[in-house]
Amino acid sequence: MTYQKKIAVVTGSNRGLGYAIARKLSQIGIHVVLTSRNQRDGLAVKEQLSNEGLDVNYHTLDVTSDLNVAEFVQWLREAYGRVDILVNNAGINPTTKPEESSLLTVQLETMRSTFDTNVLALLRTSQALIPLMKVHNYGRIVNVSTEMASLAAITSDYYPIAPSYRLSKLGVNGLTVLLAKELLGANILVNAYSPGWMKTDMGGENAPFTADQGAETAVYLATLPDGGAQGQFFAEMRQFGGPIKLQW
Ligand SMILES: NC(=O)c1ccc[n+]([C@@H]2O[C@H](COP(=O)([O-])OP(=O)(O)OC[C@H]3O[C@@H](n4cnc5c(N)ncnc54)[C@H](OP(=O)(O)O)[C@@H]3O)[C@@H](O)[C@H]2O)c1
Repeated sequence: MTYQKKIAVVTGSNRGLGYAIARKLSQIGIHVVLTSRNQRDGLAVKEQLSNEGLDVNYHTLDVTSDLNVAEFVQWLREAYGRVDILVNNAGINPTTKPEESSLLTVQLETMRSTFDTNVLALLRTSQALIPLMKVHNYGRIVNVSTEMASLAAITSDYYPIAPSYRLSKLGVNGLTVLLAKELLGANILVNAYSPGWMKTDMGGENAPFTADQGAETAVYLATLPDGGAQGQFFAEMRQFGGPIKLQW
């Protein structure tokens, strides 16, 4: 089947920000492939969005699994032959125990598993899906980061130290710039953004913003026109009434 609509993949779209981004993209006429590592959760979301009349599909995707990512790409290739948009949203922040809140005590295993999910998995999905963008000279990659990972703000007392999380997102930012550089001229635009502090399982109840609000900048970056921003870091735009670049 040839899809006229743009096709978007959102990692970790069973809850939180990923769910909000997937919903918003499908609401503007993009065919969204929902993904989650737990099939039951993902299928429940697919049913929910389909009941709203939204055009979505679903496939399992554990971004830390080579095998699962390879199977997923094969499925995409057979089902669609291409991909237009990848939102690298899946992430973890294991900074809950006191010892994980300081670089002096954080377990190296915590650092390793956080980098595995937040950085290496993002590279894995990007490497796997970019060929499906190159086949039709079009791609938009949105990497979900955080302003807490801005080097310009890394020593600010405003943010918790959260070493594994912040350093992994610093990796996301670096990867965004380098990937963008490698893809210059391919019409595949790669950018990172900070969704702000949101009421999700990760953000908690005290967060000032909803996941829906945090999703707005992702939609903007996922639908950039040809020649749009490349290798940039954006703030969540609702605070500023439009797109604002952050310092790396
Ligand atoms: N919440 C905030 O205030 C905030 C602020 C700045 C940036 N962010 C970033 O926004 C993104 C989404 O966060 P959130 O607040 O929506 O967090 P969340 O509610 O904890 O959701 C995280 C999502 O990532 C998925 N995930 C984790 N590991 C995965 C894996 N190995 N494979 C596939 N999916 C995986 C989770 O799936 P399961 O349901 O299977 O666990 C879940 O769908 C993250 O990258 C986070 O760092 C959040």
